[in-house]
Amino acid sequence: MRSFGRIASLAVATGVLALCVAAKPAVTGRIGKRPFGKTTGGQETFLYTLKNKNGIEAQITNYGGTVVTLKVPDRKGQLADVVLGYDNLEGYETGTSYFGALIGRYANRIANGKFTLDGRIYTLAQNNGPNSLHGGNIGFNKAVWDAKEIPSNEGQALELRYLSKDGEEGYPGNLSVRVVYTLTDRNELKIEYNATTDKPTVVNLTNHSYFNLAGAGSGDIIGHILTIFADSFTPVNAVLIPTGEFRSVAGTPLDFRQPMAIGARINDDYEQLKLGKGYDFNWVLARSAKKGPSPAARVYEPNSGRVLEVWTDQPGIQFYSGNFLDGTARGKDGKTYRMRSGLCLETQHYPDSPNQPTFPTTVLNPGQRYQTTTVYKFSTK
Ligand code: GLA
Repeated sequence: MRSFGRIASLAVATGVLALCVAAKPAVTGRIGKRPFGKTTGGQETFLYTLKNKNGIEAQITNYGGTVVTLKVPDRKGQLADVVLGYDNLEGYETGTSYFGALIGRYANRIANGKFTLDGRIYTLAQNNGPNSLHGGNIGFNKAVWDAKEIPSNEGQALELRYLSKDGEEGYPGNLSVRVVYTLTDRNELKIEYNATTDKPTVVNLTNHSYFNLAGAGSGDIIGHILTIFADSFTPVNAVLIPTGEFRSVAGTPLDFRQPMAIGARINDDYEQLKLGKGYDFNWVLARSAKKGPSPAARVYEPNSGRVLEVWTDQPGIQFYSGNFLDGTARGKDGKTYRMRSGLCLETQHYPDSPNQPTFPTTVLNPGQRYQTTTVYKFSTK
């Protein structure tokens, strides 16, 4: 009986295996590549087009490793571009909103542009009030990355590499960074981050896509329904630096444990919302202790039916409701983006970790590998 069971399960497993082989990615051909223009410094940039077997399409430029367009279907199958961005390289070179870009060496804020590592003080650009934001004046979002298609059995995959030199933007150590974007046939944009260093340094990488599931440029995101799988957050001071406290979301407008419209409480009389001019906080993900990506957030847009799930292995997520967008930037197709016309869900370590002894460490030492994965998964409801 037992051996019959084993043979039967072997047969089933073989069948499943055969099915898996047969179900190999249907997308044939290579990632599309076309020139995206020369930077003011004279470097060539390119725009890569990734497609999956369900018609989803992602365009990524090696300027800043930026997601330029992401076309996903609504519940009727109609595609729309759900990320904010610019039509051309010049927009990204002069832009200050970090649309779609890879952020590093340290995503989010470092207080007063200073941190101490092994007894040495490192000084960074203060490009956000007194703080250093998103890697400084010329962060990874303004770098030209080396890009190439790599083989993957999950879908089309684009590898981006960047060497951030010792001392760049004040950070110690040559940091060798590798990011792989994969557009899977499961309708996911998977982002794998890797880095190694030759001196102790701090690292916190993320992607800064602004999503609008009704379509970029079609209005604001306050009707989007958000869930964040977090029981607490890190409250901030007037310049958005964590105070060191971990505060329960219970009874606050930051409680997104149950699905809730973003606009439902955004104007509540709550000190933190006033400081952030809306939502601009780091949530402490309930998943922190687990290994491998698990659900961090979910967004549902009722009119289109589009759903975005964010999975990560990182301890935190910055939910930013696009409070600083002011309609001045000219976006794709001539559309402008007013306040709250996009939302960011930036998976990361907590802000200012290098200066916060109670936060998980962001130090990377020689011989160690920084390795994290975030998945943006699309579906409809
Ligand atoms: C992050 C920050 C925001 C803002 C945006 C970029 O999300 O938390 O305060 O600076 O980047 O505009």
